[in-house]
Amino acid sequence: MSLTRRDFIQAAASIGASLALGGTACRSRTSWRERRDLYPEGVASGDPDSQSVILWTRRPFARGDKHVLTVEVAEDEDFKRVIAHAAAPVSAASDWTTRVLVAGLPPARVYWYRFTDADGNGSRIGRTITAPAADDPRSVTFAFVSCQACNEGALNAYRRMIFEDERAAPGDQLGFVLHLGDFIYEVVQYPEEAKTRLDRTIYEVARIPEGQGHKVGNFHIPLTVDGYRAIYKGYLHDPDLQDARARLPFVCVWDNHEFSWQGWQSQVSAGPFEQPGQSVKIAANQAWFEYIPARVAPPSGSLEQFGPPAVKDVKLEKFDDNGLCLEPNNLVAINSLKVYRALRYGKHLDLIITDLYSYRSPDPYSDESLGKLGDWEDYNGMFPEDVMQALDGGRAFNGGKPPDELRFKDGHVPNPRKDAPPQTLLGAEQKAWLEDQLKRATATWKIWGNSMGALEWRADVENLPPGMTKAPWPAGTFANIGGRDHGSAWTERGEIFDVVREAKITGFAIVSGDRHSFWAGYASAQLPPGKYEPVGLSFIGASLSSPGAAEAHEHRIKKDLPMRPLYLADRTDGAKPECTFNMLLKHGVRSCIEYTKTFDRERARALSNPALAPHLAFVDMGGHGYATVRVSGDELRTEFVCIPRPIKRIESPDGGPLRYRTAHTAKLWRPGERPELTQKVLEGDPGLGI
Ligand SMILES: [Fe+2]
Repeated sequence: MSLTRRDFIQAAASIGASLALGGTACRSRTSWRERRDLYPEGVASGDPDSQSVILWTRRPFARGDKHVLTVEVAEDEDFKRVIAHAAAPVSAASDWTTRVLVAGLPPARVYWYRFTDADGNGSRIGRTITAPAADDPRSVTFAFVSCQACNEGALNAYRRMIFEDERAAPGDQLGFVLHLGDFIYEVVQYPEEAKTRLDRTIYEVARIPEGQGHKVGNFHIPLTVDGYRAIYKGYLHDPDLQDARARLPFVCVWDNHEFSWQGWQSQVSAGPFEQPGQSVKIAANQAWFEYIPARVAPPSGSLEQFGPPAVKDVKLEKFDDNGLCLEPNNLVAINSLKVYRALRYGKHLDLIITDLYSYRSPDPYSDESLGKLGDWEDYNGMFPEDVMQALDGGRAFNGGKPPDELRFKDGHVPNPRKDAPPQTLLGAEQKAWLEDQLKRATATWKIWGNSMGALEWRADVENLPPGMTKAPWPAGTFANIGGRDHGSAWTERGEIFDVVREAKITGFAIVSGDRHSFWAGYASAQLPPGKYEPVGLSFIGASLSSPGAAEAHEHRIKKDLPMRPLYLADRTDGAKPECTFNMLLKHGVRSCIEYTKTFDRERARALSNPALAPHLAFVDMGGHGYATVRVSGDELRTEFVCIPRPIKRIESPDGGPLRYRTAHTAKLWRPGERPELTQKVLEGDPGLGI
């Protein structure tokens, strides 16, 4: 199916793009001279479809409010065959950024582009790729990434990705990078205030302008658009990120840190700092729009500038039956930028991307009364799964008959969520859209791209040997370790997976980020003792650079904590402890305890608890790097490319060594069949991840 010119004009108008159509190839007519210093954040491209792509740069000018650049798109790197050129306006109102939708481009082709100002000062040259046509039967490969803390890590993973992509056979090269959020961390540390955190060195990345932020501990958080802009600029000065954006189109969705650490809807929440933040949410959306090229419609109606609506910061009260706060300023703020969207990539990929923060309901697990149920410190923060399920379901739990009281061992408290609507991360409108997209998807693989994971993490602490905790965990119940994502949003997860099963959708897979760890497994609404029924695959990619749980455990799990074997196995040879937490999540308590005694992986795995995690094939809480997905007519293959802890930038062209590379492959299944993953270690050693 090809779009007509009229279709295209309509599609462009819907995101406020002016039209820049490709035509016959001719030589460049600009006097481009590369001046990277005048384009300090480089170039980027975003959201390609089969005939168009958005091109981006930033060119600040000292004088005037508005200038116009020229962007050229060529079939060759030397710009001898320029097939499109267009005006690219930059203005102070958009912090000197520009977005141009260039169309009329043939599908599945590599292009080069560059920007030039009126004096011939040119940007670096970028490379981008159009999507294959919807009937193109060739396989498609993309990378998915998340969590790029430049403040306390290095983006060696991008360097490795570029190195491998440059050397890959043309049919295996990446079509795009799916960025699943935490493109920035709004919690900025200043090196003179915090020299290190965990294993990390704090690097200079940005300063929040005086009086435009708030300080929480060592973290400076922005409260204005200039604060967020400063962070994007700081991040984009990273050479590896800048090179990755110049080489490949990006498809991005935000996680929490593009707005606020523990924020939701328009509420700012960062540790002890909480405040209504309608104006802050709009500032965050504006900066995202300005720095991330994407097919999204800003309030102004034009891609040229965002056009922030005026709002007041008003306390969030009065929620509707779907957890949506009806306060008018909140609605204006969260609707100022809708980033959930779908992309088609050839015959085999429908990519459906959702936003898990703008419409989510308040946290169901934070009621203070829950502290009275038990001594959670004794269990290092683990919480009973059955209690969490009741809290998640609210008034809909147990077929609409929620318990009056929540119980754990001898403790009981009134159910604080008895009359509350079930937890939602998507919100009603977006959830309906997602379900509709899933039902209508016609590509072989329907991939739900999500900032946060859907694989449950839990522990069989009932199997702890006596004496490790003050009192035993109740038999027959698991402890949940997660929160915030679909790993513990049972009601919503179940509803979506029911749609997949009932509509007989095959080739369903989820890709996510946020957890700073690699996970591979299956999408099942319930786990034992509930009905384990996988309807698809589920993957979580590690952080590019942000510290993960294994690193935090090395610093925070005390040597004398009785439960230490569930997190770390201490070596006697002085080597760093091994991450038994991986084993806890996949195999259970008995395997961890055996491993810390014998260091024998096989003996430890032989004690695996089959009821704990039938949904998990792989989990590495100490991994960093990126993942790739290749989809074809009969197979999906995900690779985890894991690098060592990225504390320091590695200057070599390959970005440094690999720790391991694993492949997780599934054949396409028929309706009613279960997906089946096969796992292969291609390089290195994933340790206790399997
Ligand atoms: Fe993150």
